[in-house]
Amino acid sequence: MGDGMEFSHSPVLLKETLAGLKVFPGGTYIDATLGGGGHAGAILQGISPGGTLIGIDRDGEALEAARQNLEGRGFAADFIPVWDNFANLQGIAAGLGFGQVDGILFDLGVSSYQLDNPDRGFTYQQDAPLDMRMDQARGATAADLVNTLPERELARIIKDYGEERWARRIAGFIGARRQAGGRIETTKELVDLIKAAVPARARREGGHPARRTFQALRIAVNEELDIITPALFQAAQLLAPGGRLAVITFHSLEDRLVKKALIRLQGGCTCPPGLPECACSGQGPLRVITRRPVTPAGDEVEKNNRARSAKLRIAEKRQVLKERMGE
Ligand SMILES: C[S@@+](CC[C@H](N)C(=O)[O-])C[C@H]1O[C@@H](n2cnc3c(N)ncnc32)[C@H](O)[C@@H]1O
Repeated sequence: MGDGMEFSHSPVLLKETLAGLKVFPGGTYIDATLGGGGHAGAILQGISPGGTLIGIDRDGEALEAARQNLEGRGFAADFIPVWDNFANLQGIAAGLGFGQVDGILFDLGVSSYQLDNPDRGFTYQQDAPLDMRMDQARGATAADLVNTLPERELARIIKDYGEERWARRIAGFIGARRQAGGRIETTKELVDLIKAAVPARARREGGHPARRTFQALRIAVNEELDIITPALFQAAQLLAPGGRLAVITFHSLEDRLVKKALIRLQGGCTCPPGLPECACSGQGPLRVITRRPVTPAGDEVEKNNRARSAKLRIAEKRQVLKERMGE
């Protein structure tokens, strides 16, 4: 990041995602995280002529920017922008009259648009109001959380969602500031408190000292981790037989949840090891295609720093679900 206000359109793992989704002309797809519309543009190209893409984003501003951009490019396919949370995936599809779709993409996290826009308060690199909401129309801001949550709860969030070893000290410094009667309103005020809380030696290692706390607050403000598993279960329901699911994550907390959800959705044979053929019903709706997550090639990481930690997982809806024994 850090390249100023530029709205980066470089979609991460683009080729790999399109191949994983098996995009085909006339297909119906959902991009659950439209963002800057980078993946969406390539999907619209791949489903033309005649396909449909539903593009969801909870950020109304980003959605409008992507809509204008994509509609201006005149694809020979239908594009339906939806301002909503992908937690409502099934309801969104049903409301638009789609019972099944051929592929669904989740490119999780925040977009470059959100990170680079100084008004949004996502970045520790620019001073801004401490907001961090992806959907600015609702919910508590990061400033609301740091100024009102009990110190213990703040420490838990910073530790669990930021994997920050100095979480208790940082929460303690925030608590002390509050006791002294001061509210924390801007990203810079928070960064200065974090710098004061983290010991000098630790500040010299492991990147910017505020990185982990900012990640933690962003996840808490947007309830990011609570939404992923139920959304993937809805996606598995919504896919047509043979349909593909692609999920891109950017940190280990997300990737762990996605990996676990896919394993659960795949089910698993629980037959005794000696049995010549599977006789159990341990089969879920999906088959995981990527045993290990796909990661970007070196040249992509060189061109796009955001790709550095990206991981892509692909799964396919089974053609025929095995009949359950005894049913
Ligand atoms: C990483 S960006 C997507 C970038 C996009 N694939 C592209 O090529 O430009 C993630 C986007 O998903 C949105 N988002 C994150 N969580 C969401 C949720 N639960 N529901 C809807 N949109 C969400 C964010 O607002 C952000 O715009």
